[in-house]
Parts: sequence; C-alpha cells; structure tokens
Amino acid sequence: MQLRWAHGPQVYVPAATYSTIAPACFTIDIMSRMPFITFEGSEGCGKSTQVKRLAACLERVGIPFLVTREPGGTPVGESIRELLQFAPHNAGMTSETELLLFEASRSQLVREMIKPALERGVCVIADRFFDSTTVYQGAARRLDREIVERLNAFAVGDCVPDITFVLDVDAETARSRMQQPRRADRMEQQPSEFYEQVREAYRDLVRHEPDRITLIDGSREADEIENDIWKTLCSRFPNLTTDD
Ligand code: TMP
Repeated sequence: MQLRWAHGPQVYVPAATYSTIAPACFTIDIMSRMPFITFEGSEGCGKSTQVKRLAACLERVGIPFLVTREPGGTPVGESIRELLQFAPHNAGMTSETELLLFEASRSQLVREMIKPALERGVCVIADRFFDSTTVYQGAARRLDREIVERLNAFAVGDCVPDITFVLDVDAETARSRMQQPRRADRMEQQPSEFYEQVREAYRDLVRHEPDRITLIDGSREADEIENDIWKTLCSRFPNLTTDD
C-alpha cells in the first residue's frame, strides 16, 4: 500500500460503510468507537513501515481508518514540518521555538483531522504524537518537563491515544536502516548521545504508563512485528474484528 503525504494524510473509508456511520462524540466509550493508535520510536526504528502494514491489515478487514503523521498531517502542519526540518534558515532555531512548532502542528491535526475522524467512527493511526515531544523536547533537549506536559495537554485536549506502540531498536540498528538515500533533516544532525537519551526516555515512558504504552522489540523481522501488533490490537479492541 502506498501512503502519500504531499496532499495531506491518507484516509480510507470503504464506500459501502461510510454513509452508515452515525456521528458520535469522542468521549463515548472506547468499546463503542474505533481506537486511536499511535506509533513512536527513534528515527530508523521501523515505525513508518508498521504504520503502513497496520493500515493494510485494516483495509483487508474493511475497517475505515485515517493515517496521520507528525509534524504534519494538515496543510498548516505540513508547512510547519518543512520549517522544522528542511527550511534553509532553520539552523539557529531554539529548542523553545521547536517545542512550540511541534505543538502548533499537533493542535491543528487534532482538531482538523483526528477528533473528527474518531467521531465519525474511523480508526486513527498516528505516526508520532505527544510522546515524541515528551521524549525529544522534554528528555533529550532538556526543556522543563512540566511545561512540556502542560503544552502537550493544551495541544491535544481530551484526545489521548488508546494505545501506543514504541518500537525499540539500538542506535546501530537504527543508523543502518537510515542509510538508504533520503532527505536528511535538521533533527537528524544530532550527536549519538541524543539518540541514546531518546531511546531511554521512551523506555521510561513505557515503565510509567504500561496500560497505554506497549514496548515492541523493533529489531525483529517486520512480519513478526506486524503479527505481534495486530494480535495485541485484536485482543484489546474486539470491535476491530467484528462487524458491528
Ligand atoms: P520522522 O517522523 O520522520 O521520524 O521525523 C520527525 C522528526 O521530528 C524526528 O526527528 C522526531 C522529531 N519530533 C520531535 O522532536 N518532537 C515531536 O514532538 C515530534 C512529533 C517529532
């Protein structure tokens, strides 16, 4: 399956089911709506591959879904992404500016895309969400943790993931996966200690929120990881495998 970002996030809504989805409130119980699933991990961990594979699984079973990425996922967010990652004048960007830009992209994405999708009964798969800010800006950039948490809460409101998969790989594996020709971005110019801190901070998050966050050994074959994720999702969210 080809996911394209240039014109915004991918939405898959089977024609046969779209018109029958009743409008619902996001605050309704997770048992009666589709889950909000996020993927996290350092660069090269394989999360984007797993996002695509999960999207393909949902398509096979006929579940409507939306795939988003951060920063980005809306026209405003994609402009912020360009500014954060590739703008020629972004080298001197302060950590505080960076934090606010990630939050700005996220608050737009939540209100323009994620909440409306969940309210329509669509499953949402997010390639990064607020845990990235906790880890990259809070732990690795060492910005004030309380401010980061408050800004995260301000950006997302009540839109909190139902389940988060953190794909964990060591720095060497991650580096080897990133060596194919690609457009290197500003965030990838960091020293290797930065990535060690990112990895450790993700593992810390899993320890603190074991009910929401699942640690996945990302060094295994992609098929094995995909099966693991799908099994976890089906056991946690039975509505993914039933027709109601
Ligand atoms: P990626 O999604 O291709 O990995 O690129 C996103 C980059 O932005 C990655 O280096 C992680 C970084 N990032 C943050 O530092 N904070 C955030 O809140 C988010 C969403 C991403």
